[in-house]
Amino acid sequence: MNAFIKKMEPEHLEDVVAIETSSFPAPWTRKFFSQDIDAYYGRNFVSVLDRGTGEKVLGYITAWVVYDECTINKIACDCSYRRRGIGSALLNHLIKEVYIQGVKYFFLETRQLNTAAVSFYQEFGFIRKSIRKGYYSDTKEDAIVMELYVSEPVECEGDVKAAALNF
Ligand SMILES: CC(C)(COP(=O)(O)OP(=O)(O)OC[C@H]1O[C@@H](n2cnc3c(N)ncnc32)[C@H](O)[C@@H]1OP(=O)(O)O)[C@@H](O)C(=O)NCCC(=O)NCCS
Repeated sequence: MNAFIKKMEPEHLEDVVAIETSSFPAPWTRKFFSQDIDAYYGRNFVSVLDRGTGEKVLGYITAWVVYDECTINKIACDCSYRRRGIGSALLNHLIKEVYIQGVKYFFLETRQLNTAAVSFYQEFGFIRKSIRKGYYSDTKEDAIVMELYVSEPVECEGDVKAAALNF
């Protein structure tokens, strides 16, 4: 059994919202994801496991594309499946897909205290561009703005092998 990446569809939203709610203090709602799926500037992907009886979502990524820029809004994995390469596969897939469409600049913001996310993005080559003081209204935490410039096509390992998922 492999996990593979596909476009986010309405049938994935129940799993997506469950992961979202357990991953973020100020989670997006189902309605917000739903609108994003339909938006022409939205790029939304899920990593799924096909169990024969239906797909289980292991992680997702959402982003907006405007001209040659991509803003990554959300990336999260089911907490039981972290550190198995799913987040990397999702980010690689997004970068590969939108690079073909002419996107070279990638931006995101993350909570300063989210050291896992900061390490994850740095591993990808994102660099810290600036700090937004007190950006998050719930905790008044600062946001770190990070940027990646991609100058050549990205090799993509979209499937995460069963071994990596420990089945
Ligand atoms: C950030 C997140 C999506 C990473 O997904 P993941 O599938 O666990 O990441 P990967 O397995 O692809 O990790 C790739 C590399 O990133 C770094 N990394 C990932 N998680 C890390 C952690 N908790 N601590 C330190 N480094 C980490 C490591 O270098 C890792 O490589 P390694 O496992 O070989 O050491 C995941 O931790 C998550 O869902 N977090 C909750 C939601 C969140 O905070 N999203 C980001 C919002 S800005």
